[in-house]
Amino acid sequence: MTHAADDRKFSVLIAGGGSTYTPGIVLTLLNGLDKFPLRKLKFYDNDGERQKKIADAARILVKERAPEIEFEATTNPAEAFTDVDFVMAQIRVGKYAMRSLDEKIPLKHGVVGQETTGPGGIAYGLRSIPGVIELVDYMEKYSPNAWMLNYSNPAAIVAEATRRLRPNSKIINICDMPIGIMDRMAQIVGLKDRNDLVFRYYGLNHFGWWTDVRDKTGKDLMPQLKKHVAKHGYLVDDDYEEGIEPSWEETFKMAADVYALDPTTLPNTYLKYYMYPTQVVKHSDPNYTRTDEVEDHRQKLVFGECARIVENGTAKDTGFKPDDHSTYIVDLCTAIAYDTKQRMLAIIPNEGAISNIDPTAMVEVPCLFGANGAERLAMGKAATYQTGMITEQNSVEKLAVDALLEHSYTKLWQAFSLCKIVPDAGIAKDILDDMIVANKDYWPELN
Ligand code: NAD
Ligand code: G6P
Ligand code: MN
Repeated sequence: MTHAADDRKFSVLIAGGGSTYTPGIVLTLLNGLDKFPLRKLKFYDNDGERQKKIADAARILVKERAPEIEFEATTNPAEAFTDVDFVMAQIRVGKYAMRSLDEKIPLKHGVVGQETTGPGGIAYGLRSIPGVIELVDYMEKYSPNAWMLNYSNPAAIVAEATRRLRPNSKIINICDMPIGIMDRMAQIVGLKDRNDLVFRYYGLNHFGWWTDVRDKTGKDLMPQLKKHVAKHGYLVDDDYEEGIEPSWEETFKMAADVYALDPTTLPNTYLKYYMYPTQVVKHSDPNYTRTDEVEDHRQKLVFGECARIVENGTAKDTGFKPDDHSTYIVDLCTAIAYDTKQRMLAIIPNEGAISNIDPTAMVEVPCLFGANGAERLAMGKAATYQTGMITEQNSVEKLAVDALLEHSYTKLWQAFSLCKIVPDAGIAKDILDDMIVANKDYWPELN
């Protein structure tokens, strides 16, 4: 892919260096240097102690596999953001301690408690927006030509905020959920990976539908995929061979029930929270939510493996490997760097991509990625069912951003109560009042 006349090497900053997803990205970058050459790799985090545990292992990895790459981990924004071509952002403002409350407070009131969905997602949004805006401002101050690919959640609400507050910034908000699902689709139909599929998809983040999936010869794969999803959801053979966490197993399985409601499309897994909230709450343990599972599993695995690498002084035998999250963000940077026009998803201003939806909605649709960033493709008209769902959810996301900018209690209450998974305004108020107390170190005072 690199051209003889093009000897550029790139400088990449991972913001949220202490993220559990960082080692996967490092591995993917190191494996792909022939396609996306690096001269510098930097980590930035505002928790130096957490970041150091990952950085000490990453330093060994880089030294063993590509000693010519300069590696640096810092909590200093000027050092981090100076001389950077791409920022890969994955911060979690409030960390797992606050995610745990986002999940447990709504559940206490009988409502779905989820990282990016419903009251939990809105609460996280109000914490996350100032953190992400700060990253954008650092990037523009110290490396004004850089691009930021932002995974920091809740991506839908964060994207609405960046659209309004930094409309001209080179930030593209992204999500790995459809990517993970498309890797599963490829497996279901016997293709190598998601890049063998050509697809049409539309909606909001964590709130979308595939309307068409084909192979590169144009063969329609929807009938085969629908048959599988109707029976198994998005579960695939590998899940049983490699092991899957119980909550993800349930989510992938429940895609069958979500699919049943609209058999003309294939759904994003997150729709289960909106369509079957009662069932989700019934299957939730208010004292042991997804955060507890992540802390007991992924976080332990990642930090344990980093500690092992540091103790042994080598990463030659590491179990860290590329995954959908890491390969996607590296694919996106590569497409921008080399202007490839590869077709991939992004969360961007609608502006007609879904013709009958608010042009200012932040929608998730396929885009062509190149030197200009993401150019949206027109997906046509949303069907009646999807139009209703999207319109309501988009208003929730807009009200959440309004509430933060205007310091408005009423707008935040409206956001909570409009959300499909909250049964009424009284319960919305009870949850909101608990959330205000829990988020006192993060939210502005609401009037
Ligand atoms: P994590 O808590 O392990 O890592 C987040 C890191 O961000 C921590 O090290 C923390 O110290 C740091 N941080 C928090 N606030 C910061 C700030 N203001 N400035 C700099 N650093 C800050 O979390 P994780 O589970 O690895 O997830 C990381 C983020 O990526 C989360 O927002 C998560 O929701 C998001 N994510 C998004 C997608 C997607 O599809 N968009 C996929 C996976 C993860
Ligand atoms: C998917 C979604 C992300 C979300 C993550 C949660 O990858 O696309 O937006 O953050 O799942 O995963 P976790 O394992 O932390 O619950
Ligand atoms: Mn996501």
